[in-house]
Amino acid sequence: MVEITPETHGLPMARSCPFHPPDELGRLRDRAPLSRLVFPDGHRGWLVTGHALARAVLADNRFSNRNEYRRWPVDRARVTTRHMPTLPGMFSRLDPPEYTRYRRLLAGQFTVRRMALLEPRIAEITNSCLDAMIRTGPPADLLRDFALPIPAQMICELLGVPVQDREAFLQRTHVLVDMKTSTVDSARAWAYLYDYIGKLIVHKRAHPSDDLLSGLTESDLTDEELTGVGVTLLVAGMESTANMIALGVYALLENPEQLTLLLNDMSGLENAIEELVRHQTVFHMGPFRGALEDVELEGRHIKRGEVVLVSLPAANRDPQRFEDPDRMDLRRTTTGHLGFGHGVHQCPGQHLARAELRISYAALFRRLPTLRTAVPQEEIAMRDDMGVWGVKSLPVAWDG
Ligand code: HEM
Repeated sequence: MVEITPETHGLPMARSCPFHPPDELGRLRDRAPLSRLVFPDGHRGWLVTGHALARAVLADNRFSNRNEYRRWPVDRARVTTRHMPTLPGMFSRLDPPEYTRYRRLLAGQFTVRRMALLEPRIAEITNSCLDAMIRTGPPADLLRDFALPIPAQMICELLGVPVQDREAFLQRTHVLVDMKTSTVDSARAWAYLYDYIGKLIVHKRAHPSDDLLSGLTESDLTDEELTGVGVTLLVAGMESTANMIALGVYALLENPEQLTLLLNDMSGLENAIEELVRHQTVFHMGPFRGALEDVELEGRHIKRGEVVLVSLPAANRDPQRFEDPDRMDLRRTTTGHLGFGHGVHQCPGQHLARAELRISYAALFRRLPTLRTAVPQEEIAMRDDMGVWGVKSLPVAWDG
């Protein structure tokens, strides 16, 4: 009997519930962990929905992460990043061995010491956001007043970027993850960030301090390469963390029995965060990889040049890997979840992200134990038009 490979046109995006990936992804995974994905531009690529296969592809150096393999999988998207040249230092769009040089340098900067120094700052920033919210609310928009400023300020402090400019960065990174952004506006946003960080690098070389970019000026990276590294970190570190903070709070508020379990024993917070990152998987439209050569996977023949989209939300709900995967269970063992990716491109900011989630949640629920959503669920708009999943805003209230 000839096995038919399931085929889908465009990445399924319709969700029946904000806390669950599109049902269609689950149906595809039930049929096969690998299916055909026809991209809106007509390219016939592949979609990975199974956990084991997702790990295998992401760890396989026959698949490339270069720009030319990137194509938006939904037709609402107007921007075509793959025609954009890979600018110097845009390391996440490189493959080993070129890529490895950057990753080694970064590992030397994301040190335990630097992360430990940042933790008291995360606590201070979190508390000052809460002070401001309490002064002016209730109500408040938890995304705008809490979830966005914390990672924005932290990434600025990590890199050594003046914090007063964070609004300008937030605006540009928002443009870059918005699927409706035109190629021209996207290019403008990149140009702004490159120009800004480029000038900052010149300044850092002359006046180094204790931050990550100053640290990297001691490496053999050129100014252009350093600029690319700075921009990549800035863009990657803001929206993902902000949306995870806000969506995680929303998911907890909508699962009060799980939240109560957590609040009764905060020693489970670290584990709870892993489960939230697995269950919510804000990185919902990728990653993409391109086959550098012909590859056999699951008995299918992937031709050189074909694009494979690995769906992290689908892989993180694979029943073959996680028991009763759709249930949010803050006490489960989540080892091996793919919320931060896998393989060489696995998120280098994950320890910072975890610290931000842990510290911000602990302070939020301690200081506002009666926190609740201020509007019914159907009034909370989700970001179905953005490359990072989350809420567009999260109106919250609490007992004054
Ligand atoms: C909850 C928050 C976060 C989530 C869910 C997340 C998720 C991810 C995922 C899934 C990838 C892999 C992409 C791929 O395989 O192509 C990734 C890569 C990356 N992340 Fe994060 N991330 C978060 C926070 C951060 C932070 C705080 C930073 C910076 C300090 C950061 C910097 C990066 C960079 C630079 C890459 C590209 C790495 C590469 O290609 O080598 N991320 N992230």
